[in-house]
This record gives sequence, C-alpha cells and structure tokens, in this order.
Amino acid sequence: MRIDSLTTYFQEYEKSINSPEKFWENIAENFYWRKKWSKVLEWNFDEPKIKWFLDAKLNITENIFERNLDKLAQQTAIIWESNNPNESSKHISYQQLFSEVSQFANVLKNQGVKKGDRVAIYMPMVPEAVVAMLACARIGAIHSVVFGGFSAQSLSDRIIDAEAKILITADGGFRGSKTINLKNIVDEALEKCPSIEKCIVLERTKKSIQMKNGRDIWWHQAIENISIHCEAEEMDSEDMLFILYTSGSTGKPKGVVHTIAGYMVYTQYTFENVFQYNRGDIYFCTADVGWITGHSYMVYAPLLAGGTMVMFEGVPNYPHSGRFWEIIDKNKVTHFYTAPTAIRSLMANGLEPIKPYQLTTLKVLGTVGEPINAEAWHWYHTYIGKEKCPIVDTWWQTETGGIMISPLAGITPTKPTFATLPLPGVQLMIVDSEGNELKGNAVEGNLCIKFPFPSMIRTTYGNHERCKQTYFSTYKNLYFTGDGAKRDEDGYYRILGRVDDVINVSGHRLGTAEVENAINEHPLVNESAVVAYPHDIKGQGIYAFVVLENEGKTHEITAMKASILETVNKIIGAIAKPDKILFCSGLPKTRSGKIMRRILRKIAEGDISNLGDITTLLNPEIVEEIKKEAGF
Ligand code: PRX
Repeated sequence: MRIDSLTTYFQEYEKSINSPEKFWENIAENFYWRKKWSKVLEWNFDEPKIKWFLDAKLNITENIFERNLDKLAQQTAIIWESNNPNESSKHISYQQLFSEVSQFANVLKNQGVKKGDRVAIYMPMVPEAVVAMLACARIGAIHSVVFGGFSAQSLSDRIIDAEAKILITADGGFRGSKTINLKNIVDEALEKCPSIEKCIVLERTKKSIQMKNGRDIWWHQAIENISIHCEAEEMDSEDMLFILYTSGSTGKPKGVVHTIAGYMVYTQYTFENVFQYNRGDIYFCTADVGWITGHSYMVYAPLLAGGTMVMFEGVPNYPHSGRFWEIIDKNKVTHFYTAPTAIRSLMANGLEPIKPYQLTTLKVLGTVGEPINAEAWHWYHTYIGKEKCPIVDTWWQTETGGIMISPLAGITPTKPTFATLPLPGVQLMIVDSEGNELKGNAVEGNLCIKFPFPSMIRTTYGNHERCKQTYFSTYKNLYFTGDGAKRDEDGYYRILGRVDDVINVSGHRLGTAEVENAINEHPLVNESAVVAYPHDIKGQGIYAFVVLENEGKTHEITAMKASILETVNKIIGAIAKPDKILFCSGLPKTRSGKIMRRILRKIAEGDISNLGDITTLLNPEIVEEIKKEAGF
C-alpha cells in the first residue's frame, strides 16, 4: 500500500489510470470485510451514479478496532490537549476508545437510534466528539457534525434538512479566552426542530444550563451501567457514513454525502502515502472536527491507520502564540497539519514565540484549505520545519472526501505554492470556459475530474438533482471542482482559487449568496452584494456593499455596521462576519438587473485601473459613488 519513491509513485499512478478497478481492489484487500464485493465500480457522471465495492459488507469501526486490536490495544489513539495548558492532557488507548465508542453506541441504541437514522453532533473539540461519531458508525447511524462556531439558525437548518433524530452536544466549550455556551444555542435551535427526540449533553464547562425534561439527557448519566460491548452493525459498502454541510454558490448549504467503503479505503490510503505516516509517529491535525479535514484526517484516517493523533481543544494564540509549538514539543509530534491562515497569523507574531521550543521531533508538515502564499510557505519551512521537513500542500474538498493533489512527503520534490501532482486514482482535466480540454503543460483553466475515485461525493442529502446541477452539469461527463488551476511546465498543479461564488475565509468556505441572504435579513437593509478581497491573514476577506432603506440617509453608520455584523453572526456565525462594509445608494446592475460583481470585486481588491466597460450598466453613475466611498 505504501509508495516509497518517486519511481513507484509514477508506476502506481499509471496502474491506477490503466486499471482503476484492479488498483483499488488491491488496496481494499487490506481491510476487514464481512463480505467481499461482487464488483469494484459502477458509475456514470450523468445521473450521477457512483458505486464502489458493490455488495460488500463491513463496518468501518471494525476496521479501526477489531482489525488492529491484537497489536494496538494498549497504544494511544488520542492525545487530547485542553484549551487550558494547566489542565492535564488525556491519553486514550485503542482499547479504551473502543470501550467508550461501544458504550456510547449502546446509549444511542437505547435512545431508539437505528441504522440509517441521522444524528446531529454539535460539540467542542473534546474526545467525546470522536466517540460520538464512531458510535454512530458502529450502529449504522449517519452523523452530521455541525461546526461549533455556527449559529442557532445554521444548526437548526442543518438538523431540519437531515431530519436528525438525536442531537449530541455539550454544555459549552472553551476556545481561547472565550467560553462558548453551546447549550443555549442548542436550546434556541431546537425550538424549530421537531425531528429531534433527544438531546444528549456532555458536561464540559460546568456552567449552569437548562435541561429540558423528557428531551435532554446528561452524557455521564446516560452511560451509567451501560455495557462496553456492542456488536457492530453490518453495513453495505454504499450505505451513508456521514453528511457534512458545505457552502456553494447558492444561499443554502448542501449536505454532502459520503458512503462507507470508498471513504474508508481512500482516506487511509492517502493518509499513509501523503504523510508517509508510520505507526508510532505522533500526528497533530489542527482542524476542527466540524470540517471535512477534521473528519477525514483527524478522526477516520489516522485511526484506521492505527495512528496516534493529537486533538487540541483550543486556538493557536491562547494563552500565548507558541501554543502549537508547546504541544508539539510536549508530545513529540512528528507530523503537523494545519491551515495557511494559522501559519500567517502566527507569522505575524514574529519569531519570539517560537524561540522557547525545539521542534526537533517534526518530520513532516502539511497545509490544507486554501492556497498557501510563498512567504508563508518559506516561513513554515524555515522556522517550523527547520528546513528539514517536507511540506505537503494538500488540495482537496469536502466533496472529494480525501486529498486529491499533494506531494508525497519526502518523495515528490516540492515547489512553494504548488500542490504538485495528483494522487493515484485521481484523473484531472483542465478545461476552458467552454469545457474544451487544455492539453499539455503550461495551461491554466478550470479544474475538473474525469473519473471516479472511491471517496467522492455520492449525492447531496435529500436532493440528488442538486448534486447533479452543482457538480456534474457545468461540463458534460466531468466533475467540476469550482477551482481554477494552472499546470506548469513540469506538469505540477497550482490551485488558483475558486472561480464560482464561493469564498474562502481563513480556510472556511462560504457562499457569497449565503452571506448576502444573512445581511438582507436585517430589517433596514434593502439589498447587498458580497465579494472577496485579498486579506493578509485570512487569505480572503469579506467585503459587503450594502444598500440601506432610505438610501441610508437616516442611519448612523457605525451603529448600522455593528448591527449588520450582529445579524450575520446570528444567522450564520462569527466566521461569516464581513471584514468591510460599504454603504451605497445602489449596486451596479446590468439592464437585466444582474449585479455586476466584477466591478465590485475590482473595487474591493483596490484595483480600479481597469473596471471594463460600464456604459452598458443600468446605473453607471453608481460606480463613481462607490469608488468615492471606497476612498478612491
Ligand atoms: O478552493 C479550494 C480550497 O478549499 C476548497 C474546498 O473547501 P472545503 O470543502 O471547505 O475543504 C477544505 C479542506 C479540504 C477548494 O475548492 N483549497 C483546499 N485546499 C487547498 C485549497 N486551495 C489551494 N490549495 C489547497 N491546498
């Protein structure tokens, strides 16, 4: 399963293209199946229909636990580091994790959860979040983890869409200097969620909360006297493992669906190869469990690989900007995987916070979630990796489930800002706007995938047509990623960023329409347009052009801005709060009433040298007004 040289990489890549079924079947042989597949792959991108390892039976938790337990029972699976450095860390062995997962699986069963039921998870970064996910997988329930930074409305929207039966949450969570009162948010969300029968609440902050009679149950009470043995449910390879909501070009986030077998095979394979992970290595991924990176490369892949992973509750700069480095030294971390935005924000603090730490145990560094600029890459390489650790710049998406383009650590020669080469099984195509393939090297266009790989999106929950429209209809017979990409003279890929209406703020994905909808909820807002602009730390910042009622004449600007931010915070969450708000009396529109975002984007980027032809606008005079307001 392991690629150990560049030559082997090219050979394996060839094999994976020439006979994908055989290639993946060989890899799948390393897993534990209750029953093997009758056919490896069935697919078309028209419907789309994507099925891997047809008719096989398995349980992913048997592949984490039973498959490895004779060797790994006493090995640490999770090292948990608290937000507060003075609180002891926890070391949870595979045996212990297995018992906790099985016990909590029994709790879920006792609460009436059955195979195929949806369970929402809204938790801080504590080991119980992992236990909750794996307990669902153990009994065949489908988890939908909602990032703990999302608002009550975002949470209820996701619960309603998935018709979740149970919500697992905590009284609250600690993030830096803040205590987040999750349960209060949950109480507000659940007012709108009739599908929820029970809410299981973990005690973490011990702040006083309301427990609703008949609905709310404490986690610690629920597990009292419950058996730590739970037979795994036999699942079909194409049964759903989880739903994860993600933003797109439209206003409403969609539930990306991943199924069990393909996801399992692909994530473990890519984890071991990209990171060149060996058992005994200590791997630290800083992603929140609420995002796909948290799912694939903090929970599932490292545990499937029998790895030891560090889970950190807090934030990089609390109580000091050396917190990551402190955790690395303390736990002898060998592999560190984070987002460029975190690197940039730590870089802004200078070198002092790094000085007290050795960082000598590190072997491999990784980045994910957004393009990494050359300056951040070099800083990471020089000061964290001490010029000896390869950096794997991993490009992938919620929809792909696993890493698509990345160097293999220490094997693929890296080039700053390039995600380099596709992993085995990944068949890329760069097309122009008409969908014509741009062949050869030194080309730039829209990035597509032309052949299925095991962990790819199967559907969008409850609405297959939306999956087809969003990903498989822009170009015939291709999966469109939404990203622009360049292939250079060496055949290396560099991701240029989204070409659709998705923006990437600190590695978090948001739709411009989603943010606009939230702003428009404000009672004094008439309409708005949101675009991204380059931001030194966040990668992209959110720039909102807002038209108020009465053209804003009667409103006090500072108070209005604050109140709009509060509206967005309430509807989506703090991550979606615009960095800049500009009030104007109208938005530039075409004669058919479409907002000309191109012009707004230019203004937001601070480049008004070439706004293009504005004479065809319905209201060209508005451009002058906006330019003036923006300080030009
Ligand atoms: O634009 C790409 C960017 O993040 C998008 C996917 O976001 P999400 O589904 O939230 O998943 C993030 C974690 C996998 C992509 O369409 N992106 C992700 N990784 C990179 C990246 N852009 C450039 N370089 C990357 N390494």
